[in-house]
Amino acid sequence: MEKKHKIYVWSKVTRLFHWGLVAAFVTTLVSAKFSNALLIHISAGSTMGILLSLRVLWGFTGPKYSRFKNFDFNLKDLLYYFFKLFKDKKLYIGHNPAASWATFLLIILGVFTTFSGWMLLGAQKVRGVWAFLAHDPTLTPLLLKVHVLGKNIMLSVALIHIVGVLLEHFWHKTSIVTSMVDGYKFAPIGIKDIVPTKAQNHIGMGFLILAFITGVGVWKWNQSPLIGAHPDLIYYHKEFPEFANECSSCHALMPPFLLTKKSWEVVLSDPKDHFYEDISAKVPNLESIKEYILANSAETSINELAKGVSETSKGRNVYRVTRTKYWKDLHSSIPREIYSHPYIKSQSRCDACHNNFGVTNYIDNEDITLKHLSLLESLKIYLKL
Ligand code: HEC
Ligand code: HEC
Repeated sequence: MEKKHKIYVWSKVTRLFHWGLVAAFVTTLVSAKFSNALLIHISAGSTMGILLSLRVLWGFTGPKYSRFKNFDFNLKDLLYYFFKLFKDKKLYIGHNPAASWATFLLIILGVFTTFSGWMLLGAQKVRGVWAFLAHDPTLTPLLLKVHVLGKNIMLSVALIHIVGVLLEHFWHKTSIVTSMVDGYKFAPIGIKDIVPTKAQNHIGMGFLILAFITGVGVWKWNQSPLIGAHPDLIYYHKEFPEFANECSSCHALMPPFLLTKKSWEVVLSDPKDHFYEDISAKVPNLESIKEYILANSAETSINELAKGVSETSKGRNVYRVTRTKYWKDLHSSIPREIYSHPYIKSQSRCDACHNNFGVTNYIDNEDITLKHLSLLESLKIYLKL
């Protein structure tokens, strides 16, 4: 075996970047499982985006072993590394061939996945600078596929990377795991420590802070034009107070985009028989309200639920949103007995589980709440058990 000693290979910036990326990636994976954690998801995702841009820059300007120039992309070396993993205990000072490829793939896929996620936020949730994409209904399924595929490949590369690192650490005894903590790694005698320059330290730390600020900023200013603010947001109480007040006297306000025009015509055709209820006394302005609702029915909206409702109604008169296939699919993880809960009572009590329901023409993920249920019941629903 070669004579070896410990040298400094990973600068503070490189290590902080590495663990920051791990934390952000794990956060995006976990938050994607919770339907009301979109904000956490995009906050961690944007942190990842900034971190990865730093890593690209770092690959050209960083200390020796962090530079792409120093990576080993030779496919022969990669095959050699994998086949001789158990025999050859060669010391790699910077990235070994597998780690070179893992880092490179994670950067490319990470940037790709982050960006497709941002576009998906526009196409699917009608939020942020890409909201105009929502006008094309074919884009959401496409972007979703691309986003999930990117994530799956990233996850596979990360898992292979972890297995490889553990093997090297314990089998080759290169102290590769602790090297990402303290920066020191075993190397053959004669190879020197890296000495990051002041400029490298400052620019690197600056970027790390920027990544952190971006994450917090996305969280705090979630209605900024970059990620929030539906471009055609309407507050019903402002736009049409009679509708907002009169139609919310018995149940939460049902926004017009919940049903198709055809369905609304039936629901509002006879004020004396609105789901067996006489609404004529409570809704004196029914004529103008009806006109407003018909003009803003599901077909006219690019909101996710509205699109789903009009697609799955297929021209039939489905007079309850809870009868549409789209709504049923969305809520399929909720067990039937939940609706007998004293605070929820019926599927139509949208406001029991959605905060701010009926306030605007959008239903946001962040507003989903299962406050009436126990933690265990909520977890079961969120994790789709
Ligand atoms: C007098 C009370 C009352 C008023 C006023 C009222 N509703 Fe209703 N509405 C009901 C009842 C009761 C139901 C049935 C709820 C259930 O089955 O859980 C219902 C159900 C609905 C549903 C179906 C919800 C679902 O399951 O998809 C819609 C849509 C709806 N109302 C819209 C309106 C609109 C729009 C207005 C104003 C024009 C209005 N309601 C005014 C009592 C009322
Ligand atoms: C028992 C609680 C409950 C009730 C009642 C309920 N929802 Fe939901 N809703 C949820 C949960 C939980 C989710 C997330 C489901 C998931 O992702 O698995 C959800 C998801 C949604 C979504 C998707 C949100 C997004 O951005 O992904 C929409 C839209 C929605 N509900 C509309 C409605 C409407 C309209 C009603 C009333 C007719 C309603 N919900 C009634 C619990 C409820």
